[in-house]
Amino acid sequence: MTFHIRMAKADDALNLAALSTQVWLHTYAKAGLRNTLSRYVFAAFTEKKLAAEIANGAKQLLVCEVDACLVGYVKIAYRAICPVRRLESVEIETLYVQEHFSGHGVGSALLQAAMDHSRAKGWNEVFLMVNLENHRARTFYETRAFERIGTVDFALEDERHANAVLIKYL
Ligand SMILES: CC(C)(COP(=O)(O)OP(=O)(O)OC[C@H]1O[C@@H](n2cnc3c(N)ncnc32)[C@H](O)[C@@H]1OP(=O)(O)O)[C@@H](O)C(=O)NCCC(=O)NCCS
Repeated sequence: MTFHIRMAKADDALNLAALSTQVWLHTYAKAGLRNTLSRYVFAAFTEKKLAAEIANGAKQLLVCEVDACLVGYVKIAYRAICPVRRLESVEIETLYVQEHFSGHGVGSALLQAAMDHSRAKGWNEVFLMVNLENHRARTFYETRAFERIGTVDFALEDERHANAVLIKYL
C-alpha cells in the first residue's frame, strides 16, 4: 500500500473530525453507544477545534493519505506537561488510523514522523497516554520500546478510565 505523510492544512479539519469520531468510537464504544460516549465525541472532535489546533503553533498535526484520502493522523503537542514527572516534554496526543488501513505500517510511519519532528525541534523524549484496556495500542507501543512510567485517570463526565503513561527516549 502506498501512503503519503504531510503536514495538516486548514481544510483537513473536517475530515480529521470525522476520522477521529470514527476511530474513537470503534476503539472505545465496544459495548455499543451511550450518551456519555456520544457527547464526548461530538464535543471533542469538531471541525472548529481541529482547525484551531492546526493553526496553533504549539501543536503539529501530520496526516496520512492514500490516493489523496485521509486514512490516519498524529497530533504532537510541544511543551506539554508530563502528568507523572511534572516536566515539560512532547506529548503524542493522538495517533489514529482508520481501521480499514490498519496493519499496513501507517501507524508506525506516523509515530516515526512524530518522533523525527520532535527530535528535529531539539527534544530528546516523547510521552503519551493510552487506555489500559486498549491492548492493541499498548502492544503497539511496547513493541516500539515505549516504557510505562505511571498511570493517570482520564475523566469522562463522572467516569474515570485508567490510562498508562508511556515514555520513549529519542
Ligand atoms: C494503534 C494504531 C495506531 C496502530 O496503527 P497501524 O497502522 O495499525 O500500525 P502498523 O500497521 O504500523 O503496525 C501494526 C502492525 O501491523 C503490521 N505492519 C507494520 N508495518 C507493516 C507493513 N508495512 N505491511 C504489513 N504489515 C505491517 C505489524 O505486524 C505491526 O505489528 P508490530 O507492532 O508487531 O510491528 C491503530 O491500530 C489505531 O489507530 N488504533 C485505534 C486508535 C488507538 O488506539 N490509537 C492509539 C491510542 S493512544
